[in-house]
Amino acid sequence: MFRPASRIASLPSPATIAMAARARELKAEGKPVISLALGQPDFASPEEALEGAIEEVRDGHTGYPPLAGQKTLLEAVAYKFRRDNALDVPLSRLMVANGGKQIIFNAFMASIEAGDEVIVPAPYWVSYPLIVQMFGGCPVEVSCLEENNFRLKAEDLAKAITPRTRWLVLNFPNNPTGAIMERADLEALAEVLRKAPHVMIMSDEIYEHLTFSGKKHVSLAQIAPDLADRILIVNGVSKAYAMTGWRVGFACGPEALIKAMVKVQGNISSGICTLAQGGARAVLSGPMEGVEAMKRVYEERRDRVVGFLRNIPGVSCAMPQGAFYAFPGFTALIGKKTPSGRMLDNDVDLAEALLEEQHLATVPGSSFGKGSHLRLSFAASDEELAEACRRLERFVLGCS
Ligand SMILES: Cc1ncc(COP(=O)(O)O)c(C=O)c1O
Repeated sequence: MFRPASRIASLPSPATIAMAARARELKAEGKPVISLALGQPDFASPEEALEGAIEEVRDGHTGYPPLAGQKTLLEAVAYKFRRDNALDVPLSRLMVANGGKQIIFNAFMASIEAGDEVIVPAPYWVSYPLIVQMFGGCPVEVSCLEENNFRLKAEDLAKAITPRTRWLVLNFPNNPTGAIMERADLEALAEVLRKAPHVMIMSDEIYEHLTFSGKKHVSLAQIAPDLADRILIVNGVSKAYAMTGWRVGFACGPEALIKAMVKVQGNISSGICTLAQGGARAVLSGPMEGVEAMKRVYEERRDRVVGFLRNIPGVSCAMPQGAFYAFPGFTALIGKKTPSGRMLDNDVDLAEALLEEQHLATVPGSSFGKGSHLRLSFAASDEELAEACRRLERFVLGCS
């Protein structure tokens, strides 16, 4: 009989999987389910991506690619880092993988020994602690408080660092809160990190282009060039260019780490689909108007959704400064009963009840290390968002 390896058997199953399965069941039963659960842009991939992919085939690039990525794509990635982050890096410090997720997987597999600690500021994207645990590492959560707009405070970071700390994970703009870090916040973090030379920094900047209210993303690598040999920047085309299905992520890091990550990749996937690389090359070296236009749409939706949520009695909502998620708090609802008499003991009960009673799929905050909250993606149409907000309000007002 099949028995999963202990590193897999011991991994917790996020509530999101059960929720997504139930949402599919309800949909199949003909229920008018609206899902704000997915972290996926609702736009089509840019035309240039399609042309780039076709060009790749026409040029006969249909054999195994170089493990770190095709030279033309790495050159486009280098151009992106120069244009957006003022970083001038040689191709030997770059690589591409099957999505930002595989970059993270490669990096942790290449570096984590059993018992190593990885500081994961919470709320966090659920995959960081899970991947860390797959390699026997220990995720160490540090809370980023809502009162501080979910930013990581330098003094909280300092307290969490131990001799066993291997990595700090930064993810700004953040999934699920939309928080960003200002220049001064990053300068304070850099000060702490200079005193802890054994700590590597993974800076996941996959939402860098999606920042609102005129704010601009700043990378720690720009603020602290002296830490360059300890910073791995994770990025990709999924979110900014609406290319989640193409599976292209990229990284910039110290040469020895990139080399080890390429070695991992050579034993996992033998590189990235050449068509997808052509698509990514085209968008990364192309104009940014399309990204700007999508950003404006997300920002309008953010304003409408957050405005609506804040008007529902008992619901709080920090203003997301980037990405495409709202992360409202429902503390006032915990301990109450839903219109159908379900008890709401926590955010998982809340998300389940919303799905069953209002056919609205969201993600419970505890999946991101923060209870009493829900994550709502605003990568959905105006009509869906308006209807979702009406359902949410009806639900909250009916609880007692
Ligand atoms: C914070 C963050 N990082 C990385 C990723 C990985 O994206 P991909 O593997 O599609 O590049 C995601 C996807 O949801 C994300 O939210």
